[in-house]
Amino acid sequence: MRILITGATGNVGRNVVEQLREFAPDAELRALSRNPEAALPADVELAVGDLAAPETLADAFKGVDAVHFINFAGEQYGALPDPAAVVALAEQAGVRRCTVLGGVASGPLERLLEASSIETTHLRPVEFMSNAIMWWAEPIKAEGAIREPFGDRLSAMVHPSDIGAVAAKVLLDGGHDGRSLVITGPEVLTMQEKVRVLSEAIGREIEFVELTVEEAHAKWRGEGMPEGVIAFLTEALGNTPDEGKTVVNTVEEVTGRPARSFAEWAAEHVEAFR
Ligand SMILES: NC(=O)c1ccc[n+]([C@@H]2O[C@H](COP(=O)([O-])OP(=O)(O)OC[C@H]3O[C@@H](n4cnc5c(N)ncnc54)[C@H](OP(=O)(O)O)[C@@H]3O)[C@@H](O)[C@H]2O)c1
Repeated sequence: MRILITGATGNVGRNVVEQLREFAPDAELRALSRNPEAALPADVELAVGDLAAPETLADAFKGVDAVHFINFAGEQYGALPDPAAVVALAEQAGVRRCTVLGGVASGPLERLLEASSIETTHLRPVEFMSNAIMWWAEPIKAEGAIREPFGDRLSAMVHPSDIGAVAAKVLLDGGHDGRSLVITGPEVLTMQEKVRVLSEAIGREIEFVELTVEEAHAKWRGEGMPEGVIAFLTEALGNTPDEGKTVVNTVEEVTGRPARSFAEWAAEHVEAFR
């Protein structure tokens, strides 16, 4: 079986590759990247291509049975400019099955895949545990503190390996056509609990400083965050939908393994915070 992984150099895609390798050592894995120098595991074939330029993708889909799709193009997660052309290429190449990672740009690609001949499973992970590196590693290293709004928010945050494992099982075994799989971790954590877990993992007290929404906006703008992302974050963090703070059993149901906890994730990533 040959599987194409898009977004393979990112948080989720890299874990899809890793988990496919674990579950199916003999599967032929091909990773799409815009970067001809992309660092990939030695036994993963590189296909250079850009989802925003479908004319660059024909070779990537050749001989592929299943695809893991991202639905965006570029660093700010904007929607694909021509998702219909991407789906048409996949269909023409004979792709039979796909997973598609949900997110800010959800909608057009998903609808086209559903209407296509390709078995489609939607992956809807909640907050990634790995956001802790992106948001908190630098301030923890610099001043031992996290400055954020919405101190009482709740999150059923998920380990990216578990997203990868669910995707890998679906791509390999099928059986989830048309389903929309919400993927969470095993527990709901408050901000204070996350900080305590991280403090214990790195062996250093971390202070949590709660910002007002106005202070947070000023900080994010100062860091160069685009207004659209600020609006998205404010809504996602300040008004988390029930889905983002309710544990579901998808990881165990699909993979047969329990979901990994934030404490496990933190123990694996202590060096990023020291
Ligand atoms: N962070 C969260 O808590 C969270 C929660 C739920 C859902 N999500 C969703 O998850 C997605 C982000 O996933 P991630 O964190 O794994 O992404 P990421 O680490 O930012 O990686 C981005 C990946 O997308 C690829 N890419 C970007 N533009 C491309 C293009 N034009 N053509 C081909 N490949 C392209 C990049 O490949 P190259 O650079 O190698 O070309 C890279 O592999 C977003 O849709 C987000 O909304 C995030």
